Amino acid sequence: FGQLEANEKVLVGCIGGSGLYHLDNLTVVKKLDITTPWGKPSSPITISSLPSGDLIAFISRHGAHHTITPSEVPARANIAALKHIGCEAIIAFSAVGSLREEIAPGHFIIPDQIIDRTKGIRADTFFRGEGVVVHSMFGEPFSRKLSEFVAPKVQKILSEQEGEVKLHTGKTVVCMEGPAFSTRAESLMYRQWGGDIINMSVIPEAKLARECELDYTLICTSTDFDAWRVGEDPVTVEEVIKTLHTNAGNSRAVAAGLLQDVHNVVAEGKVLNEIKGSMKYACITRV
Ligand code: ADE
Repeated sequence: FGQLEANEKVLVGCIGGSGLYHLDNLTVVKKLDITTPWGKPSSPITISSLPSGDLIAFISRHGAHHTITPSEVPARANIAALKHIGCEAIIAFSAVGSLREEIAPGHFIIPDQIIDRTKGIRADTFFRGEGVVVHSMFGEPFSRKLSEFVAPKVQKILSEQEGEVKLHTGKTVVCMEGPAFSTRAESLMYRQWGGDIINMSVIPEAKLARECELDYTLICTSTDFDAWRVGEDPVTVEEVIKTLHTNAGNSRAVAAGLLQDVHNVVAEGKVLNEIKGSMKYACITRV
């Protein structure tokens, strides 16, 4: 396990979800074993180089061998570690269930809203117990500029992959606690609420990224139709795993094709500056 040298700049972090445990189409430069004040990240941080030589960081959210359940992901350590090594933007991947007929297994989705159905048992702020009261802005839970920057590039990369891989944007992701999947009644309710896809991971990751003033966007891959389709069997792990492999291959292609552009735009420091400084007025003191 190494350390970053002073001349090694890593501006973009990538978090892989179910099925995406490494970016083995990039060249691994070193692995960092970091301990943060919030513990160790889910996996060592892999630093890989793009063909240009620019570096990116990768963490496997559920551990390198998928041993960490969604409720136990050390999200604070993951986000703090990426912040600590100098990342300014995070491209996170997540396997999701679909709550809509038009979002088929295999499709990609970049959501722009979240409905939080986690149960309050996840550590979702860096500020609890710190003697300060902090309310971050979360009305736009993803970095709009980063999402809008990546969407056309993801679309183009997907159009070059085998089969018809569709991209949906502007969708709402429901984040549930799990680990059991939803009941049919819950799944139908989420549809009525306006949910389009469902996962178990975007909360608290997106909140913590915001507290760190990191641009954060989520690239989702649909694995199943959850439990809402009356007359069809509800989702099983078997069904999820079937599409995970294809989705992971497409995700790796997306990551490889996308990360250089994201690195460049972050390095320019011009486009993605909406989140930077957003925490300046988040701390309430006596007024
Ligand atoms: N991840 C993948 N499929 C899912 C589903 N149906 N519900 C919650 N998380 C998921």
